[in-house]
Amino acid sequence: MSGWPVRHAVWYAPGQTIKTNKIIMKNVIVRTCVLSALWLLFNRPAVQGQQQAGNDAEAKIESLLKKMTLEEKIGMIHANSSFTSTGVPRLGIPELTTSDGPHGVRPEHGRDWELDNKGGDSSTYLPVGITLASTWNPELGYAFGSVLGSEAKYRGKDVILGPGINIMRTPLNGRNFEYMSEDPYLISKMAVGYIKGVQDQGISASLKHFMGNNQEISRSGINVEMSERALREIYLPGFKAAVMEGNVNTVMGSYNKLRGEYCTYNDYLINKILKGEWGFKGLVMSDWGAIHSTKEALLGGADLEMGTDLSMLPNPDYNKFYFADPALKLVRSGEIAESVIDDKVRRILRVMYKTHMFDKRTPGAYATKEHAMVARKVAEEGIILLQNKKNILPLNKTTVKTIAVIGANANRENAMGGGSSQIRPPYEVTPLKGLQNLAGNNIGIHFEQGYTIARNAQADPALIQKAADAAKKADVAIVVGGWTHGYDYNKWDDNAFDAEGFDKPDMNMPFGQDELISAVVKANPNTIVVLYGGGPIDMTAWVNKVKGIIQAGYPGLEGGNALAEIIFGDVNPSGKLTMTFPKKLEDSPAHKLGEYPGDSINVHYKEDIFVGYRYFDTYKVKPQFAFGHGLSYTSFKYGKPLINAANNMATVTMNIQNVGSKAGAEVVQVYVKDRKASVRRPEKELKAFQKVTLQPGEAKLLTFTLNKEAFSFFDDKQMQWVLELGEFDILVGSSSQDIRVRSRIKL
Ligand code: GLC
Repeated sequence: MSGWPVRHAVWYAPGQTIKTNKIIMKNVIVRTCVLSALWLLFNRPAVQGQQQAGNDAEAKIESLLKKMTLEEKIGMIHANSSFTSTGVPRLGIPELTTSDGPHGVRPEHGRDWELDNKGGDSSTYLPVGITLASTWNPELGYAFGSVLGSEAKYRGKDVILGPGINIMRTPLNGRNFEYMSEDPYLISKMAVGYIKGVQDQGISASLKHFMGNNQEISRSGINVEMSERALREIYLPGFKAAVMEGNVNTVMGSYNKLRGEYCTYNDYLINKILKGEWGFKGLVMSDWGAIHSTKEALLGGADLEMGTDLSMLPNPDYNKFYFADPALKLVRSGEIAESVIDDKVRRILRVMYKTHMFDKRTPGAYATKEHAMVARKVAEEGIILLQNKKNILPLNKTTVKTIAVIGANANRENAMGGGSSQIRPPYEVTPLKGLQNLAGNNIGIHFEQGYTIARNAQADPALIQKAADAAKKADVAIVVGGWTHGYDYNKWDDNAFDAEGFDKPDMNMPFGQDELISAVVKANPNTIVVLYGGGPIDMTAWVNKVKGIIQAGYPGLEGGNALAEIIFGDVNPSGKLTMTFPKKLEDSPAHKLGEYPGDSINVHYKEDIFVGYRYFDTYKVKPQFAFGHGLSYTSFKYGKPLINAANNMATVTMNIQNVGSKAGAEVVQVYVKDRKASVRRPEKELKAFQKVTLQPGEAKLLTFTLNKEAFSFFDDKQMQWVLELGEFDILVGSSSQDIRVRSRIKL
């Protein structure tokens, strides 16, 4: 197809309007002014109220600042215990209290690094980040954040250290479970909901880890090299949306470097982009132990030093922190202006005001039934049905009499695993428990361990034989396997696989699960595999032999119940993959084109913008399961989209109908393809989506708005976003590879 000649490019900085047809533009400007006048008229009290409160706070901050001594200011910009930073009691300024983690409030550490184990610190173990994102439901993101904020408040925390939103660049990153996706647009939609949910509870969220912390190997010092286009188009947009739309109050700098400078105090990232371009007014805290100098860090934009005592354990001396006595000396000597410290204290006080630390907070709640039901809802919508041959699922409770439940993950509790995101929940429903709860007495459930979760454990023929025998005798066999956070969760250093501080060694099923699954499916073709874990696993050995495959992520304290509801059809699955599942690790772009894990000093993101489906679809590499893939027990019909393209924007209107026999929810995904550009662009990019629930036969009209950013790319020569006019394809589908309808437009 002869490409549309690239006409004049239209340059604009973020937020600048495009000068095109004067007449149209005039109409647009007139309409916009009228609409915004009306909006202000109706919203003025609220807007004025917020502004007034903000002005009051700023005035109070300035008056507090004037009263503080230099020592008191210095005290505020560094930790004085494992998770708190110093306050100024004399002036009524409390300590700032932080707590992990992204999917629940961590057990108490008190003021050192040992778990208190005094009890009373259980909290709702919500599904992990990747399972939340797999719901593709921003409203659930808000509900999730609300539960997290409420529980943090109850436990006396001011800042909850989440969400983690680093891009899933490689399937091997040990913390993919904590994060959300390979796609920045999906991340931005899910993170904004989560942050608003937390902060509407009067608690601050902490956006992490800013940025480029996409592997755990050599995380504390590795230098990431990436192009400006990869930075702007892939790795920053989720953070930008969280700051500019989510108004996140705090940001946590990452351990690694970008282009030679530690990210936590990287002048380009923190001062120029975060605080400059994005206008971030909150505080930047370091990851724990991520500050390695005084002057460079003070000037590089870090505001709060946390966790440096990790290097001083067992006798931490908080005066030795880089932002403590050494900082005091530099200000006293005049090498650092006091105004540099003032700005940091100002930001910390601003967060304190936003977190209602100077006034009354509404009470929180924790580990309540309501919170558990939110966790279950997230699990119900985040668990993904990957394969359903011969419609083996859902199981029919009247015809199925016996089920063999096989696999150590079937009765394993995962909450305390994973590293800093660990949770001590009041309970955790395992898959086995969930199936037993729902099966009741009229279905016989027989459990076999099948494999052992232990360091270097291999296939155990005796366990496999027992599992195969049980499968043979049953109507259906359900193997619950996949990844784990490590081995013994009570031992801090027994982590591995899906855990902080570790990357997976490969994508192979650990503990001899491939042999187990092959033996089970040989004994009974009616086999379903349920995978726990934070991302892809190599299933080539059995994917074409088994009938059903479910990706469960780590679905939280109600996960077993949600899984059982899906298996028995009480819930119609609607989860969608947020990360491409490659057939083999070597198909993955970071491994094929890029570099992973680097040489412990540097890692070059040579795959550039071709991360995830942007790579698989552009380079025509077939994945095992595509980004955005997830099956339902019903089916949906996509109507032809009606597109109105004008003023370098497009509105897409289309019908979606449930043409099956069960109610269900579909995630309608809209991808954009630039047919001709002056730079290489991905085959398609996700630029809109909507999740819609439909009764059998019901149809709904959906409207998607694609603004100019949806068609633009970042030109790293002009250092601006650019929209090159021409032809674009609008691709609408049920996954990145299951495009149902498409349309061509010209801008
Ligand atoms: C850890 C993690 C970070 C966590 C912090 C406090 O090293 O990287 O996510 O919030 O330290 O535990």
